[in-house]
Amino acid sequence: MTSTPDLPTSAPVDPAALPRSRVFSGVQPSGLPHVGNYLGAFRSYIAMQEHHDAIYCIVDYHALTSTHDGELIRRNTHEMALGLLALGLDPERAVLFRQSDRPEHTELAWLLSTVVPVAWVERTPSFKEKRRNQPQDINHGLLTYPVLQAADIAIYHAKYVPVGKDQAAHLELAREIVRAWNARYGDYFVEPAAVFSDAPIVKGTDGVNKMSKSLGNVIDIFAEPEMIRRQVMSMVTDTQRILRTDPGRPEVCNVCQLHRFFSPTEYESIWEGERSARTGCVDTKRLLADRIIAYFAEARERRRELAARPGFVEEVLQAGAARLAPLARETMAVCHDRMGLGPVPR
Ligand code: TYM
Repeated sequence: MTSTPDLPTSAPVDPAALPRSRVFSGVQPSGLPHVGNYLGAFRSYIAMQEHHDAIYCIVDYHALTSTHDGELIRRNTHEMALGLLALGLDPERAVLFRQSDRPEHTELAWLLSTVVPVAWVERTPSFKEKRRNQPQDINHGLLTYPVLQAADIAIYHAKYVPVGKDQAAHLELAREIVRAWNARYGDYFVEPAAVFSDAPIVKGTDGVNKMSKSLGNVIDIFAEPEMIRRQVMSMVTDTQRILRTDPGRPEVCNVCQLHRFFSPTEYESIWEGERSARTGCVDTKRLLADRIIAYFAEARERRRELAARPGFVEEVLQAGAARLAPLARETMAVCHDRMGLGPVPR
């Protein structure tokens, strides 16, 4: 089943233009989804469910490497699934499931880990970052995190993986891991290719760092409109525009950049207003807050409706995991066979 990815790994891709294939992606249960998740990845999840055989996963095993509050992980897993469904992920077209409901992922991670030189995982940028950010808790799971991610993808032979650019190194490593396994045990796993959107790295409200829950610089999708407004109004704009009369530089202003997505037919005139100082940063932010609130209004309503249906999310997650059982088991059976696990064949 091996195939060479026919994609450059960095260009934005129109999901509809790709040949029909298996798609996989995962998201950590970090609570409410934010605009970075949406523009960088979730939009692509939803677009790809139309033309592909799509599988999406809430990765609660991965979350254990940073959060040790079980109740929080469980609640956030439910919340993230609810958010994805409200945003348009359709369980009739795509599979949505909870990683820990398919424990084969952890077994495959172990099998794959035996072909991974330690140096490969030690040099992963996310490991170095976590080492800096949580020095009190450099657990072994952090080191092996990308191997589990490779297993998530490989177990279903997924070819395309819609993700933000922050996942590029993990995807590159997943390809190397699959190649190493195939070289040792014979061609079997597909080398996956990252699919980036046209917003591969969305900056946070600080205007510098990637938007990220852990950095506290997010614009939430499902927060109350007043909260969204507060988050947008706190955004750092063009730091060289000091006076209201100074011309703005939309190319470096994060507020202007977000207007590209939330005011798609108008952003050029908004940018022109900034350049000529006809409009000030506060005006441009107010407009952005209005646009973001309006853009997600329907999803917010749908989230309310779905949340009122007891058991709905849980049913979707369990049905998703059940649908994947034959595929996951088949992959494990092939791995056992090739790797020499189990009884001597008669
Ligand atoms: P996570 O949970 O951090 O993020 C989920 C998805 O959202 C994207 N994303 C962003 N894109 C652009 N700009 C941003 N500021 C931004 N913030 C988040 C991420 O790139 C990601 O696509 N390790 C993964 C989860 C994972 C996974 C997988 C992904 C586990 N197994 C297998 C793909 C395939 C993660 O922590 O994503």
